[in-house]
Amino acid sequence: MPDQEQDSHRLVLHPLSEAIGVEVRGIDLNEPMDEILARTLKAVWAEKSILLIRGQELDDDAQYAFARIFGEIAARSKPPVEKRDFVPDPENPMHLITDRVDENGNRLGSLGHGEMYFHTDKCYEEKPHRASTLYAMEIPSEGGHTKFASLYRAYDMLPDDLRNMLEGRRALQVYDFGTVPVGTDVKIDELMHYWQPIFVTNPDTGKKALYVNRLMTSRIEGLDDAENREVLETLWDIIESPDNMYEHIWAPGDIIVWDNLSSVHARTDWPQDERRTLRRCTVQGDTLV
Ligand code: SIN
Repeated sequence: MPDQEQDSHRLVLHPLSEAIGVEVRGIDLNEPMDEILARTLKAVWAEKSILLIRGQELDDDAQYAFARIFGEIAARSKPPVEKRDFVPDPENPMHLITDRVDENGNRLGSLGHGEMYFHTDKCYEEKPHRASTLYAMEIPSEGGHTKFASLYRAYDMLPDDLRNMLEGRRALQVYDFGTVPVGTDVKIDELMHYWQPIFVTNPDTGKKALYVNRLMTSRIEGLDDAENREVLETLWDIIESPDNMYEHIWAPGDIIVWDNLSSVHARTDWPQDERRTLRRCTVQGDTLV
């Protein structure tokens, strides 16, 4: 895919992979942004699921301003207290992703250390977060990459018989700070969970996406345990296939905004003794259809 130049602002759009993502070049997020530029960025994001802009020096306010292009800033919900020692401040939507503690042993950020399976943010709530922005501040010498996979393309890649079988069903999205294996006798009512449509339509593009992910999707409506396992494994193979992905190797100053409706993301491990700090704020979404 060739780069494309957008006439109005001399923006260059450089595809990150065949499947997903665009790097936007020729933009400084500290400069005032007019309506045309904001609309262009939102349209490219809705179509390509992730936007990357490198080399930015952003304070909290500049990151909020960028995030607002994609919708209203989302409040942060508190996880059940017994589940973790870091309880976010719902009044402060901006937060750090880091595993550090201060001199008094208090956690400074969320999401801890190490690898995370593919997931999409807040799919276990009726109105999941629509967009997430992540700004790189401190990056380890190796690892700590973020991988993105396209749920638009995954929908398009479904064999017809599987797509027909899944049409109209819902998937149970659950979060327990780890996977909730199919067929376990966990008490779902005690966990954050929501039955979402398995296929969702992006209101901005009309495109359909396969809305499941390895970390949080526990079961598909109407299937028994054995069928569930088999079908979910097939879906993970489609979603997580290398040609459906882009893997981002962060540098300080990179900012990415992703669409949680049409993409999933995962994270690779990094050395235990190295710091990785990214600043995140998210954008509220609507009920999915
Ligand atoms: C996230 O899952 O939102 C964070 C991803 C990352 O730390 O790379």
